[in-house]
This record gives sequence, structure tokens and C-alpha cells, in this order.
Amino acid sequence: MTIGLDGAPPTAPAATSIDVAAERARTLGASARHYFNAAGAGLMSDAVVARMIDHLRLEQRSGGYEAANAVVDEITGVYEAAAAVVGADADEIALFDSATSGLRGLFDALRLGEGDTVIAPRSSYVSQALRLLALQRHDGVNLVVVPNDASGAIDLDALERALATASGRVVVSSVHVPTSSGLVEPVAAIGRLARAHGALSVLDATQSIGQIDVDVRAIACDALVTTGRKFLRGPRGTGFAYLRRGALDGIGAWAPDVRGSVWTGPEEWTMDGGARQLETWESSVAARLGLGVALREAVDRGLAETEAHLVGLAARLRERLAGIAGVTIADPPASASGIVTFSVEGAVGREFSAGLRAARIDTIAIPASHAQWDLGERGLPSVVRVSPHVYNDDSDEAALIARVEELAAEARR
Ligand SMILES: Cc1ncc(COP(=O)(O)O)c(C=O)c1O
Repeated sequence: MTIGLDGAPPTAPAATSIDVAAERARTLGASARHYFNAAGAGLMSDAVVARMIDHLRLEQRSGGYEAANAVVDEITGVYEAAAAVVGADADEIALFDSATSGLRGLFDALRLGEGDTVIAPRSSYVSQALRLLALQRHDGVNLVVVPNDASGAIDLDALERALATASGRVVVSSVHVPTSSGLVEPVAAIGRLARAHGALSVLDATQSIGQIDVDVRAIACDALVTTGRKFLRGPRGTGFAYLRRGALDGIGAWAPDVRGSVWTGPEEWTMDGGARQLETWESSVAARLGLGVALREAVDRGLAETEAHLVGLAARLRERLAGIAGVTIADPPASASGIVTFSVEGAVGREFSAGLRAARIDTIAIPASHAQWDLGERGLPSVVRVSPHVYNDDSDEAALIARVEELAAEARR
């Protein structure tokens, strides 16, 4: 038996309704490796992959446009499934090829300029942080990065002060779970504060959708972006955004395309009133069909059940890793998510992760350059990130812990 931090057996996660054996049986990659990189790209189920291959075969036989015509209803279902996952309506969903392109389309449409304000947390992801810094540098937008409180989450009092003194149009660009730790930001409180101050609330939920049950109405957000490939276990090159109905009224997409607009006369066009005004026309139909399968699987498995399972699993991993000499958990106190981060005395994150990979254990090292306002501020050059999913079983956990023990001991010699 493995001994926990204080010599007691590690806390067993509460029993959940997730059938790990069944998840493994329908996920080819789950038995090939000890895969702990769902926060990078979760393992797709066999059905997700099969749906994509089938469609590629159809494109091969009948041509891309003709194949797309044959699946119009199924693609409509992808919007409906994405809406079901976040508690929105289908016309409030736009499909993208990544979370970053969703955020980019949205911030382009907002046309922020001189004197407007964006308020952001320390947990901001590199692509959004750089975008906001570019808006500040090139367009005169005021950027306010809010400090954290002792829990490691955004300081809500400081956020309120920032909202109270902000000028121009105000956007709160928040993050649910960052790339660099297991932190869960208080998104409902952030949404409520933003709304109370008349600010637009935009949430980066890339690391949370699929692992944390999110309802966009309950958290009062005006827009949300996520990717398909992480905890949703969809294909690479997929993502979607929720845009509250009416959120862009009077503005509209900055770069309209044939997908969400109609060019009606030499200098006129009309625009889809819903989220699709942000979309561009071309896409991988096969990938979107695969995403649809992944979304339906996530709903069928149960979003709340998945959350309970992953949060419990990560809590146990955190506890067991913390008990290994030389390992320091890097997650702040407010880290009730399925992501675990740690550093190891005498080891470089990337090399440590490579040492795990050599034993068929997949984790990833997150460098400070992906999260300067978080890891950089905390003086951590990198952390090793472990992100399990419903296909991980006890043998995966045992392999991870044993190998971390070995590598941490080597690093201390
Ligand atoms: C918190 C967070 N936001 C945004 C992104 C970017 O997502 P994408 O690569 O789909 O653009 C990532 C990617 O890891 C992320 O962790």
C-alpha cells in the first residue's frame, strides 16, 4: 500500500459514476501509454477518430463540397451539442479551429481603441496576454492586470476597484483554469462584478470545458471560448465560442466572411445576427464531425460526474506527489481542478518530463514564457503538468508515482 503525506494511506477519491474500464475500452491510446496530458490534447475516443476517417473517405469518393452537403444536419448538431455543453442556444455558438482564433475574432470585432480598458487576470494565457499587450502598445488601450489574493485566484476586491475606475468601454478578459496550474478562478463572481459595472465579460474556458461543468448563464459571461482538443477530447484544429445573443449588436464582425455575411450590393452586406458572424467559411468538416462525437460523448458521460471524478483524481495525485522527496506542488490553494503542477529540486521541467516520457508516461513541462504573469511572477522557470482524464486507471497512477520517485531521487543526487 502506498503511504500518504502523514504516513496515512492517500485519500481515495470519492466513488463516482465514471466507468473507467469502459472509457479505456473505447480509447485506443489509453492502453498504449500512461497518458497524463489531457490539458495539452486529451486522447480521442475510437468513435471520434472513426467519424473523421469516414468523412475523409466520403470526401475522397465524392469531393469536399458534395461530402459536406451530405452532413449538413450533422454539422447543425455540432452547434447544438456545443450549446448543450455550456448551457447556451445553438445560434450563440460559433465554430473555430482553436480557442485563440475565437478570441481573436471576438477582440477584432470589439474594435477597442484609445482610452478603452481591458482588465485581465494573472492567469492569462500567452496568446491572449500578448494580444492585450499589443492592443495597449499599438492602439492605446488601457490594460489592467489584477493581482491575486492569498488563494492564488484573482483578488475580487482589486477587480472591483479596477472596474470602478476603468475608462472608456470596459472588457474583463478572464480565465477559468490557466495553462500553468490547477487554479480555478471564481468566474461566477467575476461575471457578476463585470455585469454590475456594465463591462463585457469574456471568458477563456480552454482548460475547463470538458473537465468542469460550465453554464454560461449562471456565470454571467457574455462570451466564452474553448478548444476541442483538450478536456473535450475532440480532434486538433477545433474550437468553439459562445457569444451571448445581442452582445455584438451595433458593432458586428470586423472581418466579415461569406460564412456569416451576405454581400448584397457593391458596398453593402448583411450579417448573421448570431455568433456565426465571427466565423470564416473554410473548415475541416471531418474534424468538426469528430468534435460533434466528442461533445455528445462528454454530455452522455455527464459533465458534473466528469468534474467530480477528475477533481478527485487530481487531488489524490497532488497528495501523493507532494509526499515524494524533492517534489513541490506548484498549484496555488484554489486549485480544485483536474490539473496538477509541480517542480522538482535539481531538475529542469522539460528534462524531467522527457524522463517520464521515456517510461511511456506523458506529461508536459510548461515554461514561464507561456504564463509570464503567473509562473514568471512566481519565479518558476517551468513546472511539470499532469492532467488525467476519465481513461486513466490505477496502473497509470502507480506508474507515474513510481517514476517521479525515481527521477526525483536521481535529481537530488
Ligand atoms: C488557458 C488557455 N487558453 C488558451 C489556450 C490556447 O488554445 P488554442 O491552442 O486552442 O488556441 C490554451 C492552450 O493551451 C490555454 O491553456
